[in-house]
Amino acid sequence: MKADVVLGLQWGDEGKGKIVDFLTPDYYMVARFQGGPNAGHSLEFNDKKIVLHTVPSGIFRENTLNLIGNGVVIDPVVLMNEIATIEAMGVDVKSNLIISKRAHLILPTHKIMDAASEASKGKTRIGSTLKGIGPAYMDKTGRNGLRIGDLLSDTFSERYNALKNKHLHILKQFDFEYELEESEWFKAIERIKTLRLADSEYEINNLLNSHKRILCEGAQGSLLDIDFGTYPYVTSSTTICSGACTGLGIAPGRIGEVFGIFKAYCTRVGGGAFPTELNDETGEKLRQTGREFGATTGRPRRTGWLDLPALKYSIMVNGVTQLIMMKADVLDDFDKIRIAVAYKINGKIYETIPYDMNHTDIEIIYKDFEGWKTKISDCKSYKKLPAAFKNYVDFIETATGCSLKAISVGPNRDETIVR
Ligand code: GDP
Ligand code: IMO
Ligand code: MG
Repeated sequence: MKADVVLGLQWGDEGKGKIVDFLTPDYYMVARFQGGPNAGHSLEFNDKKIVLHTVPSGIFRENTLNLIGNGVVIDPVVLMNEIATIEAMGVDVKSNLIISKRAHLILPTHKIMDAASEASKGKTRIGSTLKGIGPAYMDKTGRNGLRIGDLLSDTFSERYNALKNKHLHILKQFDFEYELEESEWFKAIERIKTLRLADSEYEINNLLNSHKRILCEGAQGSLLDIDFGTYPYVTSSTTICSGACTGLGIAPGRIGEVFGIFKAYCTRVGGGAFPTELNDETGEKLRQTGREFGATTGRPRRTGWLDLPALKYSIMVNGVTQLIMMKADVLDDFDKIRIAVAYKINGKIYETIPYDMNHTDIEIIYKDFEGWKTKISDCKSYKKLPAAFKNYVDFIETATGCSLKAISVGPNRDETIVR
């Protein structure tokens, strides 16, 4: 059996949580493969809305196993608060959640270093969620990190103190005031030790060997990928499909369907390139109609039209096999809808994206579409959707060479049209 992957093709917040929750009944396990509490994945069902940060979005479906993979970085306090919220909703988290022993820990000092680094950057700051993600991955790749499995070691305290002291030493170089909050963190790690900690690469491969279906859940988006995103305005992990291999221990040949999900327009939180950004009334209308405010930080999201050169790039680096379009309903009331089909740079036309999008003067070439002016969430099948909407979809499918498996027309589980 091969594992399928759901990942975002833009700058995050495409609606991964909703789609993973929607697809979960077809799977035995949902496995998060990278990122950490910088993610905010929203789920809506039975008049409830919940935002998950570290726990996979399959947790609300009975009899589904959920795995936090080795590629994820874990803040024990965030994780335990999240588990408490989910348990209060009647879910048996302890039975259905597995945590990889190889996942790295976010220390209290990682968060301070994140904040100090951002403060020192001034205007060029990334716009990090300040959850300690960058510093935790730096310690991972620098071979200094502490892992979930280390919590079980007798020497954990010594190793924690050594790393903390190293961080405090680095922090002296910054003109930055901070308070070190450790007591909640130590309480949380005691509780983590009572959860199912596993050599999850064995568990996941054994499940695939016994023909169990696995859905890998990405966080962030492809344009925030550490290699292929708009560097340095990116996150610190591999958000593209190959991250599912390294973040879970699945061989490349065992990846099946790659569901690439994108909004019918674009959003971005934090700094960095956004060629189709709208700093006008239309952008504000997208933000208000789409409720585009960060699920993790509450920050207003920047908004703009769908960007095909960027979307095609993401489809390419991920090997997307099926597309899923999200939040199409947000465009219901627009008279004219635009798609960026090419970039004009120094008088030349490109359908590819430039090396340094952040510092390139890009003029956008748009194709305009008639708005469908219909409440598409009332259409219960693809057939019933208005012609203007189908025209928009056909154009995207032809331009990307990829078919649309599903269209999301509202935040609720049920508001999904499968083709
Ligand atoms: P994620 O990080 O990719 O899981 O996405 P977020 O949860 O951060 O942001 C997506 C937001 O859009 C959430 O508030 C969802 O409830 C909402 N949402 C998801 N799909 C749709 C949709 O099809 N239509 C509308 N209107 N909202 C949606
Ligand atoms: P989900 O999984 C949107 C952005 C931050 C910042 C940059 C680096 O909900 O789609 P970091 O905290 O990683 O150092 O921030 O990446 N960012 C996200 N934007 N959705 C996310 O996650 C994000 N996770 C990080 O805003 O610009
Ligand atoms: Mg989000």
